[in-house]
Amino acid sequence: MARTWFITGVNSGFGREMTEQLLERGDRIAGTIRQVGSVTDLQARYGDQLWITELDLTDTAAIHTVVDRAFARFGTIDVVVNNAGYGLFGAAEELTDEQINHQIATNLVGSIQVVRAALPHLRKQGGGRIIQISSYGGQATHPGASLYHASKWGIEGFIESVAKEVAPFNIEATIVAPGGARTNFRSSSSVIGAPMAAYDGSPASMTRGIKDLTRPSPGDAGKMVRIIIESLDQSPAPSRIALGSDAYRMIHKTLSERLAELEAQKTLAISTDIPTTG
Ligand SMILES: NC(=O)c1ccc[n+]([C@@H]2O[C@H](COP(=O)([O-])OP(=O)(O)OC[C@H]3O[C@@H](n4cnc5c(N)ncnc54)[C@H](OP(=O)(O)O)[C@@H]3O)[C@@H](O)[C@H]2O)c1
Repeated sequence: MARTWFITGVNSGFGREMTEQLLERGDRIAGTIRQVGSVTDLQARYGDQLWITELDLTDTAAIHTVVDRAFARFGTIDVVVNNAGYGLFGAAEELTDEQINHQIATNLVGSIQVVRAALPHLRKQGGGRIIQISSYGGQATHPGASLYHASKWGIEGFIESVAKEVAPFNIEATIVAPGGARTNFRSSSSVIGAPMAAYDGSPASMTRGIKDLTRPSPGDAGKMVRIIIESLDQSPAPSRIALGSDAYRMIHKTLSERLAELEAQKTLAISTDIPTTG
């Protein structure tokens, strides 16, 4: 079944891969880019199937205008994909306020506002699907990535809650947690804070080498995207999809340790209730 999609960041990485696979199948896409001219090859090849507009996710007003225009252009949009984002790395102390604000504005607030802009349209048309590209870093953590984790843990909480709010309107959401994949995420998109000598050799310094690709990420972005696209045929929608051996390992370890710690505190947790009388 051909579908219509809204996807942020279609010029690179997962967004580009998804756009190419969907256009090849005959689906229609409203896609956003930051750099004019970054998908002219796809526009020339697919014509009206692909509608492209500029959008920087840090511009909340523009998000609402672009989403409204996309729905006006296609009438109905079946799937809204929050894909665009990047990683900010370095110890929390090493980052500037501007770097922190930009990371949160892009990955967290930007994704929140795309969903808020799309919901009135999705409700009006009787339903739809939201795909949130998060990361295994939305459930697990590494030192030296605290702001990236804050953005991804934050968006996962938002999406999980909103999914419960909009279930009565036939709107479903899936959080995708990829592991490392060979996109521009590490090579060029990531931002690294200015190193402080105090953190040299410490756990937080681990992420300083993120742009070093001598140990490449294990994930195949094309395979990951194919699984995301195929998830649209699942009903009900999967609430979460983990992709990659590293994602599976890290999420499993984190959840197992959290559950074990919670269980160990069960008596303590219950002990703070006010005793019921009578
Ligand atoms: N690759 C991985 O290892 C990995 C793992 C887990 C999760 N992810 C997530 O996957 C998503 C896509 O990343 P990717 O791996 O495909 O990396 P990518 O190749 O660097 O693509 C990132 C896309 O996001 C866009 N973008 C970044 N900041 C933006 C902003 N402020 N406003 C609008 N667009 C913006 C980029 O536009 P420009 O080209 O103009 O910069 C680009 O289109 C991200 O949310 C990332 O956190 C990636």
